Amino acid sequence: MKVGVIGAGAMGSGIAQVFAQTEGYEVYLCDINAELAAKGKAKLEKAFAKRVANGKMEEEQKDAILANITTGTKEICVDADLIVEAALEQMDVKKKLFTELMAICPADAIFATNTSSLSISEMGNGLDRPVIGMHFFNPAPIMKLVEVIAGLNAPPELVDKIMAIAKEIGKVPVQVHEAPGFVVNRILIPMINEAICVLEMGVATVEDIDAAMTLGAKHPMGPLALGDFVGLDIVLAIMEVLYAETGDSKYRPAAMLRKMVRGGMLGVKSGAGFYTHTK
Ligand code: CAA
Repeated sequence: MKVGVIGAGAMGSGIAQVFAQTEGYEVYLCDINAELAAKGKAKLEKAFAKRVANGKMEEEQKDAILANITTGTKEICVDADLIVEAALEQMDVKKKLFTELMAICPADAIFATNTSSLSISEMGNGLDRPVIGMHFFNPAPIMKLVEVIAGLNAPPELVDKIMAIAKEIGKVPVQVHEAPGFVVNRILIPMINEAICVLEMGVATVEDIDAAMTLGAKHPMGPLALGDFVGLDIVLAIMEVLYAETGDSKYRPAAMLRKMVRGGMLGVKSGAGFYTHTK
């Protein structure tokens, strides 16, 4: 099966790895220009080289996965069987991408989006073919879960097909009905937002809030470190969706979160967030 992954950022390249390392799948990793797509693949190559050096991956395995990923712009997806879109979290950007892809991809191609909180029904509305949610978690090669989200225009056989593909690539799919934030982000992102409120109120320091949640709740990383890891712009965007969709003040983004995003403190990707991050 040929899979076109649209967007070669952290999520897109991680998703590309997941498919490319599974027998029977070939990947087209795409971005708005060929250089950005190649950069996404180069990041994978660098991460693989480290894993080879640490004895966690065979050189041949590294070469085989990389050989399975072709990079370019979305036009290389002309014979793709499946599209997984992991581009900017903006409805108009995603709708335009799907419109253009539907015009060039085979008649029986499947279209999936990795959106973290946008409405799948709205995304599919007005398009020639259905769109389904196939939501991976960061880091995609490690996290086992895939949320499969059917919007109003997704037929049941499409849900079954995506559930089967998710299992084939070694993931555990859960079927989720469309709702703001689906399941994980509805629960996880407000927790990060709450940790920021706790920090804002001066209840504890950044380090102590994270220590409290790793040691007291056995989370793999503290909520503020996780916010930096996910990207504070993404955290804010998801809180905005939860707040706007529900009108419930419990989803109001923390003022400190807004301020940090406005000031360009986005976490790991910008080098500064609640922690300082060096390359
Ligand atoms: N490919 C395959 N395997 C890899 C890999 C790669 N690129 N990189 C690492 N691994 C393997 C490692 O070899 C290791 O395997 P072993 O245990 O067999 O040695 C395993 O994965 C763990 O790797 P690390 O030791 O590097 O990682 P860690 O133990 O320090 O954990 C972490 C890192 C997985 C990020 C962990 O801290 C964690 O789970 N954090 C929480 C992440 C989380 O909550 N993600 C969800 C964010 S929300 C989201 O994504 C949704 C959204 O829409 C915003």
